[in-house]
Amino acid sequence: MPHRSAMLAPLATALLLAACASTPDGAGGRAITLRDAAAPHGLRIGTAADRSFRVPGDSADAFRAVMAREFDMLTPENDLKFVRLRPTRDTYSWERADSLLAFAERHGMRVRGHTLVWHSQLSPWVTEGRWTREEATALMLEHIRTVAGRYRGRLAAWDVVNEAVADDASPRETFWSTHVGPDYIELAFRAAREADPGTPLFYNDYGNEGLGAKSDSVYHLVRRLVRGGVPIDGIGFQMHLRADRLPEQEVLERNFARYAALGLKVHITELDVRVQQPATAESLARQAEGYRRVVAACLETPACDAVVVWGFTDADSWVPRFFPGWGSALPMDEGLRPKPAYHALLEALAGPGQR
Ligand code: XIL
Repeated sequence: MPHRSAMLAPLATALLLAACASTPDGAGGRAITLRDAAAPHGLRIGTAADRSFRVPGDSADAFRAVMAREFDMLTPENDLKFVRLRPTRDTYSWERADSLLAFAERHGMRVRGHTLVWHSQLSPWVTEGRWTREEATALMLEHIRTVAGRYRGRLAAWDVVNEAVADDASPRETFWSTHVGPDYIELAFRAAREADPGTPLFYNDYGNEGLGAKSDSVYHLVRRLVRGGVPIDGIGFQMHLRADRLPEQEVLERNFARYAALGLKVHITELDVRVQQPATAESLARQAEGYRRVVAACLETPACDAVVVWGFTDADSWVPRFFPGWGSALPMDEGLRPKPAYHALLEALAGPGQR
């Protein structure tokens, strides 16, 4: 544990930078931030980050200052994924994840661990290797024990299994489901609980926020785990939304409620609302409505205690690379200026009604 004053020095620097940065009210005064507004609700407001976090120079300082000023939760966007941690079979590479965690802890941000078991961003030595069932099971369990064990007691949540249900609502066929077998999900949760008993364990997916076949399929999977005594504490809704196809707030609330009834926590884990390019004043207003709805639905759900956006500035978002023709998905523009979506988040959080 570093000495208290050693911890305060970087914090003071960040506060100074944050105070110098343009404030969301644009008036140069001290504006209320997203994290200030969320805290009285017992709600954490978070962002994903990694790329821009490490860019050298002034722009990265501004990025980090805004991040620490606005958010009190952080999800490593890529740095805890298999391929980042285990480039080769015999080495673990912890530096990037460790530095993000250290930053978060210095700034009072809780960290969501993302993710232990996923079909994507696996190392080629895994996907191109030949594995017996025993070997693949041992690999998965060893990975969970090592990674969850290393960060034991430091995280606010682990996304233990990510995206196990396919778009057509069937169980997704992945490296893990085919090599380990259909019980890989249950094995993963049990191993994570053993390695880090105090951290809430989540199942995380996309396209499960509305009501429909995939959403039901995720719900049935999670309910089966709960009823089977598998250690699971929460459901993560990624919520990579489109501004032109927003879910109704009331539908979100009904969906969240059925997980809460299972005794689970609800986290919004990867919120962004993409708009077709070029963005217009209208599409950005629609986007703002999307952000507002999600926060409002969370506030109406006592089990919902975290909303994480998948990046906060349009300068650093996965959307343009993964959805050609789409972009501008985040609450701040490329110059870190607040967009209507930012104001909608703030208003939804700071509005009347405490829970
Ligand atoms: C994305 C990252 O944002 C990109 O930087 C990376 O290249 C690919 O993965 N669902 C998830 C996230 O659970 O981990 C993904 O993140 C977005 C979709």
